[in-house]
Formats: sequence, structure tokens, C-alpha cells
Amino acid sequence: MQPLPGFRDFLPDDCAARNYIFTRWRDVARRYGFVEWDGPLLEPTDLYRKKSGEEIVDQLFNFIDKGEREVALRPELTPTLARVIAAHEREFKKPLKWFSVGPFFRYEKQQRGRLREHFQLNCDIVGEASAAADAELIALVVDVLRSFGFDQSDFIVRVSNRNAWMEFLSFHHCDLSRAGEFLEIVDKLERMDISAVEAKLRSFSLKPDDVISFIQQPHIQSEQFAALFQEIHFRNLEEFILLDPGIVRGLAYYTGFVFEVFDRKKKLRAIAGGGRYDNLIAQLSDHAVKMPALGFAMGDVVLGELINETPRARDAMKEAIAAEHKIDIYIVIAKEERRADALAQIQKLRDRGYRVDYSLAPAKVGKQFQTAEDLGATIALLYGDEWPQVKVKKLATREESLIAHEALLDDVAKFFNPSAST
Ligand code: HAM
Repeated sequence: MQPLPGFRDFLPDDCAARNYIFTRWRDVARRYGFVEWDGPLLEPTDLYRKKSGEEIVDQLFNFIDKGEREVALRPELTPTLARVIAAHEREFKKPLKWFSVGPFFRYEKQQRGRLREHFQLNCDIVGEASAAADAELIALVVDVLRSFGFDQSDFIVRVSNRNAWMEFLSFHHCDLSRAGEFLEIVDKLERMDISAVEAKLRSFSLKPDDVISFIQQPHIQSEQFAALFQEIHFRNLEEFILLDPGIVRGLAYYTGFVFEVFDRKKKLRAIAGGGRYDNLIAQLSDHAVKMPALGFAMGDVVLGELINETPRARDAMKEAIAAEHKIDIYIVIAKEERRADALAQIQKLRDRGYRVDYSLAPAKVGKQFQTAEDLGATIALLYGDEWPQVKVKKLATREESLIAHEALLDDVAKFFNPSAST
């Protein structure tokens, strides 16, 4: 039996890589003062039908539950966040800076960078309308990626503003109520063939060239970004961002500022994307709560691909995982009659917080030392002929010494914290 298409088993190495990503996501979000929250994995299908737009609704993993409710596994977090904020807004000081790490489900055709289950970091700021919040979010996405060892030669944040396209549509006398439909065409421009683009634009009385030449004139938008760029400049992060009107985002609720993060070579799908959704909370609360909001999500799949393709980032991950998985102490039981003493000591050492391992079954001493090496133990303690002393072997230098069994609990500390011995 295989897992379902687009779903993954996480064997220990995969789990280690996943945790490596999650740890950095959480660390950097907290460095920016964001607090963690989460919502349910299953939501009423209507939450997405009304808010996310056609692309997401087509990809819903939905079904009727045993209570005849139409439900869907969450394809994204933003509608849930808007629902939660609308209900609990009074309980929190604004602006809210919230992050979340968890699984999402989209019934997409499995392809490179796209699976049916993936994990996202979501970071959202609620209750701040100024460009200071937009800049904070961009700085955060940049720093999240820098925490994996990437720099400006590896990725770029492409920023844009949907309002520029509203002006474009007005200029061309297009029906603004069809803006969503139009933006979906712009969003897929690079992925669709030109005849399909032509056909879709015809109903707007537009030609692909009108759209392409607008994208090629980023200065049209630069005024909307003056405050944002200034803040980014103060933070010395300007090499990480680029104005690109071609970015419009596929989701329906974005209102203005939007961005996507890509690898520099543009070989991969988007690593992250987000923007402002200033009307969503009002829409979900029947206008009872009005609050500006913005955020982004970064997925683990494309990020994982970029880490594996970038030697600097891949080595940093391997090193961090090896360090994280090292055990502190391996107990070598050379004489089976010492097993009881060894077990008593193992229990005490683990109580003190050391990572301790040993062979569950009798084994040759050489094999036990080999396991100690494989597990990256700092020291091995040998329970054998030296009893009531225990032989300590520092595995890195192969230095050996003897410690009285009674003093062992305190004496081993110096192998881990050199200042403890002075
Ligand atoms: P999104 O662009 O749909 O935005 O997804 C964000 C990121 O999740 C993508 O850039 C990609 O890395 C990853 N992703 C999406 N779908 C898949 C998939 N099927 N397989 C693997 N990775 C995937 C949102 O979800 C918005 N809710 C983000 C947001 C938060 N906007 C405001 N706040």
C-alpha cells in the first residue's frame, strides 16, 4: 500500500528536515514579535467558496460529513484567520502579529513543487493600515529565508499592487466588476500559452500586448510603494525586493499590496506569497468588524527543493540536523553482571536531562562503541572490569579516564560544560 497521491510519509530523515524548517520558521517569526496560533483542519466549505476564489474552490478536498455538513480540509489559513479575528478581535490589542505552522490540503495535480498535503508558515498582521506593516512583513519573509543560509543571490521578493491593475482596467474602459476574472488571467500569464491568453482577454477587448507592456513598466506603480521602499532601504534590504506588476496573486481577497517570493533562477514555483486583504474580515463578519490585514504563507515543498539545490543551505541543514540528533552519552555494558548498575545510572543521567542510549540486548564491546560513534555520542561510559569505577571515553579524542561510580553523575558534567570543572 502506497500513501495517496500527493501525500508523503515522513521517514526519520524527512521528519528531521521538516522539523529543521519548522524550527527556523518559528524562531524567526518570534524574533519579529509574532505569537503562534492555530485553527481547525476542517472547515465549512462555504468559508472558501465565498472568499478564496475559483482556483482554490476547484482544488478543495471536500466531502459531506456524517451530519450532512459540507466540509473541506483547509487549503489555506487566511479565511480561518479572518473568521477568528471577527469573533475574538476585542480580546487582543492591535495590531495583532500572529503566526501559525501546520498542514494544508489542495486537490491539485501532483507536480514539482505542488502536492496535495503541504505545510505552511503563515504570518499575518491585523489592524495596521500603514506601509510600515507591509515592510515588516517583507523583512520577515526575507529573514525567514536568510535563516536557511540563503542570500540575495538565491531568492527575490517580487512586490506589486493590485490597484495599479484597477487603474489599468479603468484606463481601458473595462468592466471593473470583472476585475477578479481579469487578475486570474494576469496571474497565469506565464503558465498559459499565448493563444489561450488571447482568447481570454478578448472578452475584455484587450490584447496580450496591452497587458505585457504594462508589466514591463514597473514605474507606473512606484508611487504606491514610496513609503514601503523607504522602510526597506532603512533596513538595508533593498537587494531582496523588486517591483513586478506581473504579480497579482491567484486568491480573490487581496485588496492592494501583494508579493511573491521566487528563487532567483526562477526554476521553481513560488516559495511564498501574500499581501493585503483589508476587506476580508468585514466581509466575513457582515461588516460588524472592519480591520485592515495583511500576511503571507510560505510552503515547505518548494523551500525544501531550494534548500536541496543550494549547497550552502543544504550543508547548513545537514550540520544542524546532525548536531540536533547527537546523543550525549552512550553506555557500553562490557560485563552483563553490570547491567543493573548501568541501568540505575542511565535513569539518573536521563533525569538530569542528558540524552543517553545503550544496547537493549547483550552485544560485543566493539559493536557498542561503534554504535556510540554512529549516534554522535560525546562520551561513552564503560561498565566492565574497572567496577566500582567506570571508564569514560571522549569519543572525539579517544582520551580515556576513570571515574568512581558514585561521583559519576557530577563528574560527567565537565564533559559537557567545561566551566563546571573549574
Ligand atoms: P498561496 O500562494 O496559495 O497563498 O500559498 C502560499 C505558499 O504555499 C505558496 O507560495 C507555496 O509555497 C505553498 N503552496 C501552496 N499550494 C501548495 C501545494 N499544493 N503544494 C505545495 N506547496 C503549496 C496562501 O495560501 C495565502 N493564504 C497566503 C496568505 C496568508 N495571504 C495572507 N496571509
